[in-house]
Amino acid sequence: MGRWSTLGGSLLFFFGLSGICTGFEQENCTNYRVQFDRVYSVPGEVAMLNTTLASYDVFNISAVPYNITWYDSKTRQEISNETGRTAVRGETLWFLNTTLDDDGEYVSVLRTPSGCYRQNTRLIVELPVPGECGRPRKAGQTITKGVTDYLGCPLKEYIRKLNSYKTTYSLMWYNHRYNGCVPIERGSDGYSYEDNARLKIDKVETKNQQSYTCTLTFTLDGTVGSVSESIEAWVNAKYSLTPQVRQPAGEIIKAAIGSTFSQLCQVFVPCVGKPSVDVFWSDQKDFIMETNPSQRVYTSEKLTRSQTVPVEGVWMERVLTISELQEKDYNINYTCYAFSDRGKPQSYFTLLPTDPDMRLPIGMILGNVAVLFIVSVIIYYLFKVDIVLCFRRMFLVFYTNTDSDGKLYDAYVAYSQPNTEGFSNEVEAFVFHTLPEVLEKACGYKLFLAGRDCVPGMAIVDSVEENIQASRRLLLLYTASTFMRKRLPSGISSNNNNITKSSDGTENSESKKESDRSSNTSFDGGEENYPDSRQQLERLAAMHRSLLEGSLKVILVELEEITPAQLALFPESVRHLRKKQGAVCWWKNQSGAGRWRTCMRTKEDEEKGGQLSQTLSPSSRFWKEMRYHMPVKGKRAMRPKEATLLNV
Ligand SMILES: *[C@@H]1O[C@H](CO)[C@@H](O)[C@H](O)[C@H]1NC(C)=O
Ligand SMILES: *[C@@H]1O[C@H](CO)[C@@H](O)[C@H](O)[C@H]1NC(C)=O
Ligand SMILES: *[C@@H]1O[C@H](CO)[C@@H](O)[C@H](O)[C@H]1NC(C)=O
Ligand SMILES: *[C@@H]1O[C@H](CO)[C@@H](O)[C@H](O)[C@H]1NC(C)=O
Ligand SMILES: *[C@@H]1O[C@H](CO)[C@@H](O)[C@H](O)[C@H]1NC(C)=O
Ligand SMILES: *[C@@H]1O[C@H](CO)[C@@H](O)[C@H](O)[C@H]1NC(C)=O
Ligand SMILES: *[C@@H]1O[C@H](CO)[C@@H](O)[C@H](O)[C@H]1NC(C)=O
Repeated sequence: MGRWSTLGGSLLFFFGLSGICTGFEQENCTNYRVQFDRVYSVPGEVAMLNTTLASYDVFNISAVPYNITWYDSKTRQEISNETGRTAVRGETLWFLNTTLDDDGEYVSVLRTPSGCYRQNTRLIVELPVPGECGRPRKAGQTITKGVTDYLGCPLKEYIRKLNSYKTTYSLMWYNHRYNGCVPIERGSDGYSYEDNARLKIDKVETKNQQSYTCTLTFTLDGTVGSVSESIEAWVNAKYSLTPQVRQPAGEIIKAAIGSTFSQLCQVFVPCVGKPSVDVFWSDQKDFIMETNPSQRVYTSEKLTRSQTVPVEGVWMERVLTISELQEKDYNINYTCYAFSDRGKPQSYFTLLPTDPDMRLPIGMILGNVAVLFIVSVIIYYLFKVDIVLCFRRMFLVFYTNTDSDGKLYDAYVAYSQPNTEGFSNEVEAFVFHTLPEVLEKACGYKLFLAGRDCVPGMAIVDSVEENIQASRRLLLLYTASTFMRKRLPSGISSNNNNITKSSDGTENSESKKESDRSSNTSFDGGEENYPDSRQQLERLAAMHRSLLEGSLKVILVELEEITPAQLALFPESVRHLRKKQGAVCWWKNQSGAGRWRTCMRTKEDEEKGGQLSQTLSPSSRFWKEMRYHMPVKGKRAMRPKEATLLNV
């Protein structure tokens, strides 16, 4: 029995040899020996053998026609289609249900009209390890702890081939649990199935370090087959993901020519441990390696800084500096590269020259206008009187002639009468000499001076009232003592105190009226005490009425310097008026600070004291102010009838 079988074997060997003699062995084929890549399989699975002879490395496959035949190296027999067992598709030999007997080398012979080529491919069929999930041969793959990572199924060639056949297939992942292969459900436990036969693991943990198996199931030539590969997954705690260039970000930056410009390149590398990433700047031509600040274009050294939250990683920074920007620096892309084994992400910025800056000129114009305005206002306030007088002189024709208003006098001059408080020789000289000299003779005004122009026999009050009514202005001349009393009734004194308290301007209109009334009372009360100065008091009463009614424009003429204490004793109405429109100060130095509306004390003034300065020039400061307040003697035409009537 044993002999026969040996004989059979010898016979088989003989026929096999004869096959060699008649088959590819006899041909003078270029032998490419055994293909380096082996094919591994386990019994019952599909195995795919592929020859690499049909490639341009061997001959020009697009120019030369060829066919490929597969042989079993043991039997030397050509392998043909065999349902459920083998399928031959050109360069590919499929074992649809491998057995341990299929283990061995298979010969592919490629024939062209001019020659032939041969190559052996090794198929290794192994038994699976009992109790273990997956194939005995496992590929190792590393996944990174703490981040999303992927496992790739090593059956990509099968999938590619099936795709080229337009054959559908399904892929299933398994992992090893409870001594068996458990299918991984899509979306469970952080796993999901991705394109390109990948398994995605959302956040890799240490427990993901295990073996995984992917199984491809498909139908070929009516036979359902499947093939599996196993992976040993290693979880790596140290990792370095693709760097992210955060700055620059493709911006266009404007910078003035000649200025110095700096731009930071900021790269973030999500990683654990030290990443091997390098950061470089480049202009469009070269990398900028210069780090010497004395150069026009240079970069800083790379700065590295670690971060743990919110994402663990490392920041890397490198500053590009270009001093004295030149024309050639504009409109080129300065790019920052982050070189790593996961790629070289990059980002750039472009420089543009700045637009001419309009803000400065506009600002200067606005500033000049503002300064001009302020200066004009100041000049107006300083030289208001001169400006107005000059204006009147130049445009006199536009002012109406006041002669036709039914008034006889331009001004009623009110002053302390002889034998009363506030009267002196100086006052008398001023009233009867200086005032008429300038205002009447030089300026052509018509004044009413009590004691000069008094109409005899007239009731004094009526006369005062009438004369005031017939005047266009009321000149109120006073000295420090004009409004003083030798003996003040106690009631009036308290009233005055009241006024003093409220003289800071905080009083309301009600209390002002009240105080006005009380000062009125003080005038009336004074009548009994000073019968001699009756005329004076009448005059004051009339004057006071016009003050209150506002019917007449009053010009305050301060002959003597008034201290605040003296001022406090003045009637409220006078103080109010003085505060509102100011007084014309005779005592002031004409060239000093006298141009101020309210009379202020200056050091210069102190030296001169209360002396009445004597000047009769109408162009002096005092007389200018007087003229400013006095009515304008206009030139506008009026009816001659009225004029003759009034001139009488
Ligand atoms: C086979 O080819 C080689 C070289 O291509 C040649 O030297 C040899 O003579 C050939 N043998 C036969 C049997 O044709
Ligand atoms: C099969 O052979 C072809 C051509 O020789 C080659 O392009 C392909 O990569 C091979 N496939 C495998 C799985 O070796
Ligand atoms: C193959 O042959 C074709 C046609 O003769 C030719 O166009 C092509 O360049 C050749 N390719 C190679 C790689 O020699
Ligand atoms: C095997 O079958 C396929 C299609 O089913 C065919 O294309 C191929 O030529 C056949 N191979 C052989 C050696 O008969
Ligand atoms: C593969 O072959 C074995 C025995 O040779 C048989 O039991 C099994 O059913 C076959 N599998 C398929 C998928 O045809
Ligand atoms: C294969 O090619 C050889 C030579 O080109 C030819 O003799 C043979 O008939 C071809 N065989 C098939 C199956 O096409
Ligand atoms: C700069 O890069 C951008 C984006 O890659 C590109 O569109 C542009 O043409 C580049 N400019 C120059 C001057 O190369």
